[in-house]
Amino acid sequence: MDESHLKILKCPKCGKKLLFNGGIAVADIADGEIVCEKGHTWPITQGIPSLVHPPINEEDAKWISDYDQMAENYDELVKEYDTWLGIDMMKEREGFNTFIPIEGSCRSIDVSIGTGANFIALYNQFKDQMERFNLHGMDLSTGMLNVSQRKFKDAGFTVGLTHGSVFNIPFQKNLFDIVLHSGGINTFSDIPGALNEMLRIAKPGGIIIVVDEGLSPEKRETEEGKAIIKTNSLFAAKPPLEHIPEKAKDVEVNFVMNETFYQIVFKK
Ligand SMILES: C[S@@+](CC[C@H](N)C(=O)[O-])C[C@H]1O[C@@H](n2cnc3c(N)ncnc32)[C@H](O)[C@@H]1O
Ligand SMILES: [Zn+2]
Repeated sequence: MDESHLKILKCPKCGKKLLFNGGIAVADIADGEIVCEKGHTWPITQGIPSLVHPPINEEDAKWISDYDQMAENYDELVKEYDTWLGIDMMKEREGFNTFIPIEGSCRSIDVSIGTGANFIALYNQFKDQMERFNLHGMDLSTGMLNVSQRKFKDAGFTVGLTHGSVFNIPFQKNLFDIVLHSGGINTFSDIPGALNEMLRIAKPGGIIIVVDEGLSPEKRETEEGKAIIKTNSLFAAKPPLEHIPEKAKDVEVNFVMNETFYQIVFKK
């Protein structure tokens, strides 16, 4: 990790700014420690700072342990959705790119980056203009972070990665043009907290995109829809509109991926 990444983080315990333990770093730090003004220290492992606080509860920890275990096979597992739901998930992910400004700089974060598929889809479309992007990815699963780190390196573009939780995002406020979350919110133990945090780190005017399994009202009435829910009950989820922060503006809900996922978009 480098100085520009460090500058936008905050201590998840006290909210204060962070410094490299040992002074200013001229180059990327692979392994080391960062420290806040109050002396709380956080490790950096293979270039990824770990800023998880408070410790995760049992329910979330179980999910994270599952994600750690499936990280290496996750992309293969997700491909099963393509045939089953009649979609091309990688192509569908390019749909998130429609929210990217057509020119100028764009600082974007995927707050549950998983294996990095959303940013691979971004790269596929914006290969020749990557210099205008400042990309960040966060996840609570180190297994997922390691896979995404390898994929970004192989593809040849940079994403600052952070080990952290959506319930207390270790980034300062008002930073991002785009805050993206896909695939996890249905099982989060604190959905309002996660949405509040996503709004907090967005710039005024920034866009928050939240996507997860959940059939459209029309699809859930069809035989196909009923069969999908019977096979995987996650698809019975409804967009958590009651938890959208009051301060959110221009809230829109759509159904994407052949009407099998909801997509909530709002502005700060
Ligand atoms: C179903 S996967 C989706 C991954 C990726 N966003 C995608 O669309 O393929 C859900 C992800 O959410 C992450 N996650 C779960 N709880 C989290 C939390 N509290 N904070 C950050 N990430 C979390 C998991 O580790 C996992 O990588
Ligand atoms: Zn601190």
